[in-house]
Amino acid sequence: MKTVQDYIRTIPDFPHAGIMFRDVTTLFADPRGFRMAIDQMLNPYAGLQIDKVVGLEARGFILGGAIAHQLSKGFVPIRKKGKLPGATIEQAYTLEYGEAVVEIHDDAIQAGETVLIVDDLLATGGTAEAGIKLIERLGGKIISCSFIIDLPDLGGRAKLEAMGMDVQALCA
Ligand code: PRP
Ligand code: ADE
Repeated sequence: MKTVQDYIRTIPDFPHAGIMFRDVTTLFADPRGFRMAIDQMLNPYAGLQIDKVVGLEARGFILGGAIAHQLSKGFVPIRKKGKLPGATIEQAYTLEYGEAVVEIHDDAIQAGETVLIVDDLLATGGTAEAGIKLIERLGGKIISCSFIIDLPDLGGRAKLEAMGMDVQALCA
């Protein structure tokens, strides 16, 4: 039987020379693969109280939307700067191939709400760290950070675990 990893392809030199880009669009495009990924991402959280699912732009929206629907919980986007229409708070960060600023609506999470963070891939952990900081500034309590792919050599898991985060991933 195919595993989640079998549905993911690697594109060399995207978006820059030397980056081996893990492309999950092939996983998302396959009905068995996509369902398998969502089901497996949900497994660790059975019985846990999760108030909000937060997705990191852009592929975290696809996964987070499906997971929030399955849990019957609300979905909150963390977006690249300039995309959210309401009042926001922002956080700068660096990732494997650049720098960016992300934002969250300042009323998207209430103090004390429990949050699951979702994205497709953990590399340096810069993106997830920025998301964690934004959620914690709003008073959210992060239950876990869930990814399809963890690239452990880039240090993201170690960075998030050093912040006290639970980190879950389906494959490396
Ligand atoms: C990718 C990926 C993660 C991030 C991981 O997103 O989807 O969000 O990089 O890298 P890091 O752990 O080093 O921070 P990208 O910034 O390419 O944005 P996109 O999904 O909007 O294309
Ligand atoms: N984000 C950071 N590094 C990445 C990679 N190698 N593939 C896909 N997304 C990424």
